[in-house]
Amino acid sequence: MSIEARIAEDQPNSFAFTAENEAEIKRIIAKYPKGRQASAVMPLLDMAQRQHENWIPMKAIELIADKLDMAKIRVLEVATFYTMFNLKPVGKYFLQACTTTPCWLRGSDEMMRCIKDRYGITSGQTSDCGRFSLLEVECLGACVNAPILQVNDDFYEDLNYQSTGALLDSLEKDAPLAVGSVLGRSGSEASGGATSLNAIKPKKTAKAKSGAANA
Ligand code: FES
Repeated sequence: MSIEARIAEDQPNSFAFTAENEAEIKRIIAKYPKGRQASAVMPLLDMAQRQHENWIPMKAIELIADKLDMAKIRVLEVATFYTMFNLKPVGKYFLQACTTTPCWLRGSDEMMRCIKDRYGITSGQTSDCGRFSLLEVECLGACVNAPILQVNDDFYEDLNYQSTGALLDSLEKDAPLAVGSVLGRSGSEASGGATSLNAIKPKKTAKAKSGAANA
């Protein structure tokens, strides 16, 4: 997608951080050595996005550039490099579907097909109802439970066509499923349950032993 296509045509005339966020910005900038305040660009972009209904207007890019003494184009470069930053409005549920090799091998095509069947959208589009936006992204860092769909800040794992549909059902009711593996596996354990070290019982510590004696 071109940079132009990623930036909203309709832009607000102004943007200002809330007083609470201004105080937080001071705290963030103070973490970096003098003259290195540009290092705060990522947290400030994230803050602007969270404050502004999950997308960053150009006025916020300009404000951040001023605050960090950066050229506006530098801030825009960062904002356009990372897919997690939205430069135009997205739906209430922003779906980031990982289709990198491990997720693809484990069925990300089915996840994408389910979303397309339901809302008629592909990467970079928003549903007609305006509530769901889809973006195809690179590895989300949770390959072990592939395929992964990130919904706003949450990861849903081990999805297939059916479970993606169940997840979308829950989002439509604004009652999202529990985050994590839809198969219920804990962390990144094997999908068939623990397979090794099962016979080893942890040794009781002296503290645990005395606790048991006093019980
Ligand atoms: S490849 Fe999908 S999370 Fe890594």
